Amino acid sequence: MTQSHGTRVEPPPRPSAVKGMVKAVLRLVALLVVSPVLVGFWINSCLIGRNRALESASQLLSLLPGVSGQYLRRAFLQRVLAQCHSTVLVEFGTIFSQSGAVLDENVYVGPRCILGLVHLEKDVLIASGVQIPSGGKTHSFNDPTRPIREQGGERRVVTVGEGAWVGAGAIILADVGKGTIVAAGAVVTKALPENVIAAGVPGKVIRPRFDAPSEPEPSPTSPASGGAC
Ligand SMILES: CC(C)(COP(=O)(O)OP(=O)(O)OC[C@H]1O[C@@H](n2cnc3c(N)ncnc32)[C@H](O)[C@@H]1OP(=O)(O)O)[C@@H](O)C(=O)NCCC(=O)NCCS
Repeated sequence: MTQSHGTRVEPPPRPSAVKGMVKAVLRLVALLVVSPVLVGFWINSCLIGRNRALESASQLLSLLPGVSGQYLRRAFLQRVLAQCHSTVLVEFGTIFSQSGAVLDENVYVGPRCILGLVHLEKDVLIASGVQIPSGGKTHSFNDPTRPIREQGGERRVVTVGEGAWVGAGAIILADVGKGTIVAAGAVVTKALPENVIAAGVPGKVIRPRFDAPSEPEPSPTSPASGGAC
């Protein structure tokens, strides 16, 4: 179906039982293929730490294109992240740096994203080129006598709420509420509430996502509120 401007994108069809079985076999094959990377990850974890080992393996797997790349990345991430649901889809070029990341059911992460300590809740869509580091305070900088790289910092989990959509190139430093839309190119520095559309740098709410339900017309037989005769 087309509109006057652009092409309408239809939602994906629901998977059939046969498709489900084929996918299960492909998942098993993906696990076998990715097992040397998993072994390398576990060895590296002992040598250089879990997060650096994750970053290294994730850089390697991010280079695999197409559907095979999606299956191999998921087979790996399911076994090394704090949580990664079997329905998660991670595209080409996306890199993870924190093994504490949590990816819930039906999460989609587009190409060339960089993700730190995140919790992407169910049905979250992350467009291409999005960056979600582990909050805005990953480096402390108050000591004038030492370089920033020596001052430590703090990582926090950034949560993108269920059903939210983050547009291309956004940078997310604070939590995003359920069902909220973050416009392309926004920089979110303060937590966003549920079901709003936010845009700009710094990201500000531009409007609620849904129109407020209109007030019902008072029926001629019902008494006026607060009134007494
Ligand atoms: C935010 C978005 C969803 C549109 O929401 P909308 O409410 O329909 O927005 P409108 O087009 O009616 O614009 C509303 C206002 O927001 C502004 N706006 C829209 N997108 C913006 C953006 N990315 N950054 C800054 N301002 C933006 C518009 O200029 C307009 O401002 P105005 O009222 O001063 O004219 C859309 O612009 C967007 O960013 N989508 C992300 C697309 C994407 O990244 N896709 C990747 C593939 S998944």
